Amino acid sequence: MATIRETLRQTHGNLESVGIPDARLESEVMVMNVMRMPRQDLFSHQEDGVNAPQERELAQIVERRLKREPLAYILAYKEFYGVNLLVNSDVLIPRPETETMVEHALFMALMGMETTELVIADVGTGTGAIAINLAIHLPAARIYAIDATDAVLDVASHNIRAHNVADRIKLAKGDLLEPLPEPVDLIVANLPYIPTSRIPTLQPEIQWEPSAALDGGDDGLDLIRRLMSQAPDKLKENGIILLELDPEQVPAVEELSRQLFPEATTSIEQDLAHLDRVFVINRAGEEGY
Ligand SMILES: C[S@@+](CC[C@H](N)C(=O)[O-])C[C@H]1O[C@@H](n2cnc3c(N)ncnc32)[C@H](O)[C@@H]1O
Repeated sequence: MATIRETLRQTHGNLESVGIPDARLESEVMVMNVMRMPRQDLFSHQEDGVNAPQERELAQIVERRLKREPLAYILAYKEFYGVNLLVNSDVLIPRPETETMVEHALFMALMGMETTELVIADVGTGTGAIAINLAIHLPAARIYAIDATDAVLDVASHNIRAHNVADRIKLAKGDLLEPLPEPVDLIVANLPYIPTSRIPTLQPEIQWEPSAALDGGDDGLDLIRRLMSQAPDKLKENGIILLELDPEQVPAVEELSRQLFPEATTSIEQDLAHLDRVFVINRAGEEGY
């Protein structure tokens, strides 16, 4: 029977041999999962044996991963902003850069917006990653979580119930802001923003994700542009929009914002890699929050 130490070394080597990024971390996560052990126990139990069913389970995981299927799809969960979320191939795997959006939305809501009951729209909710974290940290908020298909909303619904926030998050199916029944204080949107032609050039793992969650059209801005043109009727006069985007898209979105919201002030928040990532439109301008 192989020990945990040997199994870790072998798994790490297998992943590294096909060029999987973060092979060491991923091998640890895989072994943790089959051993049902937290990470710290893995290292204090390095001489424990890995039994035959555990070896078989690990072999299946490694086999799928060697075909470059993302680990989150194989394990069926992903941690985001400290919360575990169910994921499957109908939804985008939540990304660390989107935590910037959550952080900034929380900052805006807690520091600036003085309404008693904040109404928020999370457009293109996917797993519900943004909506769930906002609901957890903003107990007075009511949130609409919008996406385009039942398959995606089923995943969001599972996650929302698992985190006990179903009383304050309403799921809505439809195109961008169209299903909103009332104007909101805050729109947060991580919509597809990758230009179509760039997608095949990206890493193999991304090719497993749904194109409806990635593909933003010729310049990547099709959905953001459409959302912004719907927003004047769906955002309160002193409302705020937060859009996740690619740093290269900032000038185009700035120009669009000037046309649609001439009174607004805009700013840009950077992600953990110091890249421009979240575009902020404060509709009321200097007079606002
Ligand atoms: C980049 S993913 C973001 C998912 C999630 N908000 C996150 O940050 O992990 C974009 C999401 O927008 C959804 N979407 C694409 N087109 C849409 C549309 N026209 N109306 C509503 N949602 C749409 C996709 O289904 C997908 O779930």
